[in-house]
Amino acid sequence: MITFDLHYHTNTYRSLQSTRKRRLEKHRLFLEKTGVDYVASTEHAYKRPLDAFLYLRDATHNIKTEILPAVEAISQEGIDMIFLYESEKALTAAIRDLKPFCWSIWDTATIAAQTNAISIIPHPFTPGRSGIVAGIGVEGFMQIQAQCDYVEIHNGLSLFLMEIAAKKPDAFKVEKTAGNIQKTFKLPEEFILDGVGQAISSDAHHPGHQRIVGQTSEVIKDGDWFGFLKNRVCFEEAVVSEELMSKTTQLRQLMQSGRCVLGEYSLKTIKKVKTRSRKRSQEAADRITKTQA
Ligand SMILES: [Fe+2]
Repeated sequence: MITFDLHYHTNTYRSLQSTRKRRLEKHRLFLEKTGVDYVASTEHAYKRPLDAFLYLRDATHNIKTEILPAVEAISQEGIDMIFLYESEKALTAAIRDLKPFCWSIWDTATIAAQTNAISIIPHPFTPGRSGIVAGIGVEGFMQIQAQCDYVEIHNGLSLFLMEIAAKKPDAFKVEKTAGNIQKTFKLPEEFILDGVGQAISSDAHHPGHQRIVGQTSEVIKDGDWFGFLKNRVCFEEAVVSEELMSKTTQLRQLMQSGRCVLGEYSLKTIKKVKTRSRKRSQEAADRITKTQA
């Protein structure tokens, strides 16, 4: 069996050098423990995804896990989309044109074709605003899915929320939120199109949060993982960390995830406001030039 985690965050953006060093060492230790064969570094586009990939690749060079270059990009509609590349060079070239909030989700297929990327729709029903269903509705999601290589059918980050829901069924006051969490953890079959690959990913933002990944019995020829993934694999679930977590550890992981979500929300908002005001200034300047001409 070969295992793939196609959604993983190094999460070292703006960290102090000492903190980054410690976190990377923990990534190495945990990945060595889970023994996942391939892990895609899918840092958010607004958190220096190339740096994240290089840090993680270098930190894990002496274990069997191969780190794959990728980015979790964000469209002008505020929707997350993962683009996975064959090489560091391809990722470097692609992220120049994948600036946060500067491209349309409707151009996903064109971007993937032009940059030779594997496209993956992450957590379509996520309760936050960055999911494709929240952004363009179920119909839009199904239209874009028909043009993508993969859809994420399990997202490990929602496992924490599922665990809370299992223990405290009334934790989520709004029924819709609880339903979206469930669909993020396990996407119902009616939302999975034939011919689209099925990704099962951890979406881990911290070392030790990788518990569920995808596995397959298919064979990769000549180490060509990119060509292999291009064939749109339907992964099965593999639990890579069955450690019984103490209540303290569970609480710590929840707080880590919560802090991370809040931090990313602020970063995104700042980036969005800056991008929009830059766009408005440019449009105003263009108007003046036109009038003067
Ligand atoms: Fe993510």
